[in-house]
Amino acid sequence: MSMKPLFRFAIPDARLDRSADFHYNAFMFSPIEWHHGVVRMLDQTRLPHEVVWVDCPDHQTVAKGIRELWVRGAPAIGIAAAMGYALGAQAIRASTHDEFIRQLKPIHDTLAGTRPTAVNLFWALNRMNTIVQLHKDRPVEEIKKRLVQEAQAIHDQDIQRNVAMGRHGAELIQDGDTILTHCNTGALATGGHGTALGVIFSAWESGKRIKVLVDETRPVLQGARLTMWELQQNKIPATLITDNMAGSFMKKGTIRLCLVGADRIAANGDTANKIGTYSVAVLAKAHRIPFYIAAPTSTIDFSIASGDAIPIEERNPEEVTNVFGKVRISPTNVEVANPAFDVTPAKYITGIITEEGVFKPGELKRKLGGSNRP
Ligand code: MRU
Repeated sequence: MSMKPLFRFAIPDARLDRSADFHYNAFMFSPIEWHHGVVRMLDQTRLPHEVVWVDCPDHQTVAKGIRELWVRGAPAIGIAAAMGYALGAQAIRASTHDEFIRQLKPIHDTLAGTRPTAVNLFWALNRMNTIVQLHKDRPVEEIKKRLVQEAQAIHDQDIQRNVAMGRHGAELIQDGDTILTHCNTGALATGGHGTALGVIFSAWESGKRIKVLVDETRPVLQGARLTMWELQQNKIPATLITDNMAGSFMKKGTIRLCLVGADRIAANGDTANKIGTYSVAVLAKAHRIPFYIAAPTSTIDFSIASGDAIPIEERNPEEVTNVFGKVRISPTNVEVANPAFDVTPAKYITGIITEEGVFKPGELKRKLGGSNRP
């Protein structure tokens, strides 16, 4: 099915009020929502120049949106996958549960095949599968409704977790701090509020006057395009640097701490995040600068012992040979490597900020139970 034409409207004022424990937060904004039977997402490839929302009418379009980075960031990918699953389920015509499950399988597989690294995608799809299993004695039409509710619950819970994470993380930030961040981990990368950038938003909101140093994040430039945009929207002082400047600023003593997100955290605390994160962590260690990860527990994969088992997505070489798909910067026919993520060993990580508190990497298994939870 073809996608509806692109359309544009101003950024919603974003006064989301999704749960009772949720106070008005000037920084709240959601890049994805279930909207009258379609999945509406902000096309992040168009930012910061254009604000374009896309309505995805079927799960194939949602999968395309995940693959092509209209929606990106581990928690947002999980939410998109859950909504895509629910959307695909609505279109199934089946009178028996077995037939329903048979038709759900390719929907699940299409979404699971989009991006391999962020575990939130698989975690969210597992939650959707569980709903189908739990209600297998119920009519198919009822299960379809429950799937939509589950996708919305995943979305709402992500926002609540991020707000809680922000509260815990903000305690680590002092008035006057300059914080280095990498990639984009704000509201755009999640259901709302953000993870690492969410911590920065929370610290700012609590009155701490801070500055943010933003790595541009080659090759897709999530830092330059998205993090700078979010910080600017929220009037938080920020300076954009190229990735290779980070060490020099650390040496000058400019940076008090580093704060980044995660796509998958192994049971021992090894963490996959946007390519370039590992270099920042090693540099931070060399300069004795605290290096924190902020991620919801849905990003922890207790089924893998270490980061060696994390699958790393290899993306299109054109992301490297061309600047944002447009201007070519290398000769043609060159060999290119384009891993989208790297793994930072736990020994470089000072702490992992979650919605349940801040933990040392080695404490995750003992303190968070060692099993993947909803
Ligand atoms: O390729 P992307 O843009 O999906 O990569 C995003 C990141 O690496 C983020 O740092 C990570 O997903 C955490 S988002 C809260």
